[in-house]
Amino acid sequence: MQPWPYPFWLAHRGAGKIAPENTLAAFRTGASLGFRAFECDVKLSADGVLYLLHDDDLDRTTNAVGPAKDRAWQEISHLDAGGWLDAEFAGEPPASLEDIAKFCDKNHLAVNLEIKPCPGMEDPTGQAVARWVAQHWPHSSPLPLLSSFEVASLKSAQAQAAHIPRALLLERLYQDWLGTSLELGCCAVVLEHTQVSQEAITQAHAQGLRVLAYTVNELQQAQRLRAWGIDGLITDNMGLPQR
Ligand code: G3P
Ligand code: MG
Repeated sequence: MQPWPYPFWLAHRGAGKIAPENTLAAFRTGASLGFRAFECDVKLSADGVLYLLHDDDLDRTTNAVGPAKDRAWQEISHLDAGGWLDAEFAGEPPASLEDIAKFCDKNHLAVNLEIKPCPGMEDPTGQAVARWVAQHWPHSSPLPLLSSFEVASLKSAQAQAAHIPRALLLERLYQDWLGTSLELGCCAVVLEHTQVSQEAITQAHAQGLRVLAYTVNELQQAQRLRAWGIDGLITDNMGLPQR
């Protein structure tokens, strides 16, 4: 297997349950609690800026409504992405990928960028993330692990910058999940945690693929996965690494 520069624990969407997910506040909170690696969701704005947002719509995690797809960064960047969680975070802006890169550089953090395209944007989003990372990612942090549920996004990331590590995200283990991961030149798979088995880990490792699981919030689950040889866990539970 290739060298693996990523810490075992990754804070999901930043520390996305106790601070507003996918914002710098969430990264700051996770880092203050000892996390050295983060997962976050990356989208492409209508005017070509990469930024963090999980949903296709703005409704749940900002003070705007409607699809994110047609909005320019100029509009998105002025939204409140924190007040929905708690008044304490009111006014927290959405984070651009550039904001995240600077934060990781300054604090020596690793990141797993989940390519989360708006519908119909699978190809351009994968391409834009890989191009931006290849051109701008600071040398002091490991290259981000680019993951996606979207095969098209991983393909375009691969075509754009094959040297940036990739992982196929899987909600379930469909037939030939290993073959698909290998065709995409992935170095890892990121599995929904109930899909993980000792056998799946052994099969992936035999093909040179690391295995991560999301979203693991219970101690017993984490212990079982560790015993099976999992390579990393994405969690919402900020206390779990200490237990
Ligand atoms: O990247 C792992 C996990 O974040 C995938 O699910 O919906 O939380 O982005 P979701
Ligand atoms: Mg995600």
